[in-house]
Amino acid sequence: MDLTEIVRGAFEKAFQGEDFSNVKVVPATDPKFGDYQCNDALKVAKKVGLKPRDAALKVAENIGSAIKVEVAGPGFLNLTVSPEWLAAELAALAAAPGCGIPQNGAGRRVVIDYSSPNAAKQMHIGHIRSTVIGCAIDRIFRALGYEVIADNHLGDWGTQFGILIKGYRECLTQEERDNLTVANLEKCYVLSAAKAKEEDGVWKDACRAELVKLQQGDPENLALWKKFIEISIGEFERMYAKLGVKFDTYRGESYYNPMMPGVVAKLLDMGLAKESEGALIVDLSEEKLGVAIVRKSDGGYNYTTSDLACVESRVKDYDPERIIYVTDDRQQLHFKQFFSIAAKMGYTGVKLVHVPFGLMSFQGKAISTREGNLIRLEELLAEAKRRALAIVAERGGDEALAEAIGYGAVKYADLSHDPATAIDFNWDKALALEGNSGPYLQYAYARVCSLLEKAGSSGDGTFAVATPSEKRLALQLLEFPGAVVRAAEAYKPSVLADYLFQTAQLYSSFYQSSPILKSEESVRNARLSLCALFGEVLKTGLGLLGIETPRHI
Ligand code: ARG
Repeated sequence: MDLTEIVRGAFEKAFQGEDFSNVKVVPATDPKFGDYQCNDALKVAKKVGLKPRDAALKVAENIGSAIKVEVAGPGFLNLTVSPEWLAAELAALAAAPGCGIPQNGAGRRVVIDYSSPNAAKQMHIGHIRSTVIGCAIDRIFRALGYEVIADNHLGDWGTQFGILIKGYRECLTQEERDNLTVANLEKCYVLSAAKAKEEDGVWKDACRAELVKLQQGDPENLALWKKFIEISIGEFERMYAKLGVKFDTYRGESYYNPMMPGVVAKLLDMGLAKESEGALIVDLSEEKLGVAIVRKSDGGYNYTTSDLACVESRVKDYDPERIIYVTDDRQQLHFKQFFSIAAKMGYTGVKLVHVPFGLMSFQGKAISTREGNLIRLEELLAEAKRRALAIVAERGGDEALAEAIGYGAVKYADLSHDPATAIDFNWDKALALEGNSGPYLQYAYARVCSLLEKAGSSGDGTFAVATPSEKRLALQLLEFPGAVVRAAEAYKPSVLADYLFQTAQLYSSFYQSSPILKSEESVRNARLSLCALFGEVLKTGLGLLGIETPRHI
């Protein structure tokens, strides 16, 4: 049985009739205090009318013999588990489907809005974080049993389409138009946007006219726009296939466009929006969130309005318990504003969560459109593959292996950092075979696979934990389901990455100090079982980060 349940049971036996569902057992901060600890006796003492230490002693009496308890200080419970308990728990974890990840999310639905690039532009290095972090959160939630709707909120509507349509008609050759690629769209956009800056304003007006035609549903412009979007999605999907990312839907901004007048009408009806200098605004100054414009003075709607329409539509179509948005942290004010307005509009049954991430620099240099150092995502992935191939080719590794290692390295370099922090991408660090890197963990997995192959056995599913390094690894492996839950609760894949790195380090010290193949049979079997469980945990965990685990490197 789960240790938390044992301890909760002891609280219930000691003080009947109270609710102890919040009682928590956590790994001890220092092994000298035992294996685990529980500090809840201090918290409930008042409720049960005892001094904290006496409350702790009473719980301790009710814990049973598999767990050794010491009451320390004012009433901490320090728990030391028996080798038998550990062996039984490990066997249960090894036998559990999906490495024991609890199905907390069964019957619950969430929408995750991530990647969301702008159409008609090639994806670049700035798109990595939203895509990779979003995808890991998506996988983690699915593993917990949630029904996830992965929604790519494409930037597929707006003034840029007038510029694009004009550019497509006038700045491309017939051949380029016939073989339209995103690169060509990007090219004609740049040319057309430059001409729109000309002083006479003729080109700019023409772009504007194309935009108006599009907005009014002109069939020709609408067909062009559709073509641009299709080509863009096709191109994005090529990148997503490399990265192992899949969306359930691509409802971009255009999808919500027809709903915007309705949203504004509702805001007016509810008395939430008011006129200000010709625009319509929602005043959020009481919450210190400034003012959000929901309709501009020229009648156009903006990002806030679009996201409000989007919430309304998602609630209606999916009725999710949560919507999770993964974007860079420069959008924090936008999300705070529109979450606040959504709550005022009555969308309180859905939890809106913004997962902001910090900027990424590349090899110590800021990435900026102006500096022209926006590396295309495709180039970056090709480079990752090329560099990984140089590493694996010596051992006969092929292209597929180079992709697994190269792309895995790129993802892990991002996911191993708290999303909230700014990060620097560095090739040497990402591809290092030692240290906290994707390749290091992939090698650890391949090594354990080859050990099991050499042994011709993955143990017999029984465990015996004797030495300190075995025990540390065992306790750590038992924490895997908890690490997945914590990563989801915090919306931080880095929690899981940290856990996996620590686990690999503990495995390495266990491996160095514990003979396996040469041990006598029962020890050998138990250790092989531990190695196999480590392999499963590592493979499952890396899988949740979207990182492949080749068996041979
Ligand atoms: N397209 C936006 C960007 O490139 C991100 C959209 C995020 N999702 C949302 N519902 N606002 O920054």
